[in-house]
Amino acid sequence: RKARNRMFIEMHAEASSFFQRNLKMAAGDVALRYLHDRGTTRDVIEKFGLGYSPDDWHGLDNYLKSKGRNQEDGVEAGLLSSNDKGNVYDRFRGRLIFPIQDLSGKVIAFGGRIITDGEPKYLNSSDTPIYKKGEHLYGLNLARSTMTRSKRAILTEGYMDVITLHQFGYTDSCGVLGTALTSDQVKRVAGFCSRIDLIFDGDEAGRKAALKSSRMILQHGVACNVILMPDGEDVDSLLQEQGTEGLEQCMNAAPDGLQFCMNTLRASFAPRDIVAWAKNFLSELSDPSLRAYYLPRLASGLGLSEVDFRRDAGVSAPPRNTHQPPRQ
Ligand code: UTP
Ligand code: MN
Ligand code: MN
Ligand code: MN
Ligand code: MN
Repeated sequence: RKARNRMFIEMHAEASSFFQRNLKMAAGDVALRYLHDRGTTRDVIEKFGLGYSPDDWHGLDNYLKSKGRNQEDGVEAGLLSSNDKGNVYDRFRGRLIFPIQDLSGKVIAFGGRIITDGEPKYLNSSDTPIYKKGEHLYGLNLARSTMTRSKRAILTEGYMDVITLHQFGYTDSCGVLGTALTSDQVKRVAGFCSRIDLIFDGDEAGRKAALKSSRMILQHGVACNVILMPDGEDVDSLLQEQGTEGLEQCMNAAPDGLQFCMNTLRASFAPRDIVAWAKNFLSELSDPSLRAYYLPRLASGLGLSEVDFRRDAGVSAPPRNTHQPPRQ
């Protein structure tokens, strides 16, 4: 099994260099021009190892063959696909390629963006023996040293969001890639920092993800701020249009996680439902000092005294002398 995983990793390294080489050849012009039009610089193209998968059913397939790989392994690695007739072909065709690396920088999966119109916009590797989505964060290996120094992590949604943040100097940024933030991911990032700045798209998906994600981070006892982009923007488009000044303005106005949750809930729910949310939030905390920390803060967020809140929510008084703040 170990040997097999090692082989899958070697195949990903081969695929990644194939894609990177293609970006620099004539066939990749379309992708390079696309990046140029989006304002992406050579530096980050190199730093993130971006590539291009040729618009060919057997580009990578033939390349891996030339490296002595067999097709079934390519399919199991998620690099090739096969149809019900048993024909094997490239999974990624005519796409801008984003390699996904583990913490040591080994490529373990890919995302591919369509360059012209078509569906899906991003095609990602499915789960394989070496990649489980929800365990990894895009760009974390490139961000960890800055995170360790700044004690902050920026967590954002998409591939280009992460890349553009790095381009503009926010090198403590990594991405959750569209899926819901998982407990695993929070623990992973929290190992490098004491505060997480969440940056989400100014669209319905972004607003929903912001509430779930900030709740999840607070429950791990990690401080966070929530930075929602203006309507129709994401942090990539905001930085490309307004530069760091635009983002700094959003950051300075950002509520902390608990304020954000309260504001968001108040905007669409009746007090009774918010009390239920708060009760549920507390009931999922296994650490009594965290419960004691959040109880008065939830009460005051609801405009209730602690006693009234405890009665309404049906929660018992916390033990004394455990009012420790979350990790700072
Ligand atoms: P968005 O729809 O906000 O795309 O999805 P984006 O990142 O802004 O893409 P650009 O700027 O048009 O290139 C956010 C993230 O959700 C995942 C990707 O990781 C994407 O970056 N996603 C989105 C998918 O995996 N597949 C999709 O079809 C769409
Ligand atoms: Mn061919
Ligand atoms: Mn979006
Ligand atoms: Mn975008
Ligand atoms: Mn977006």
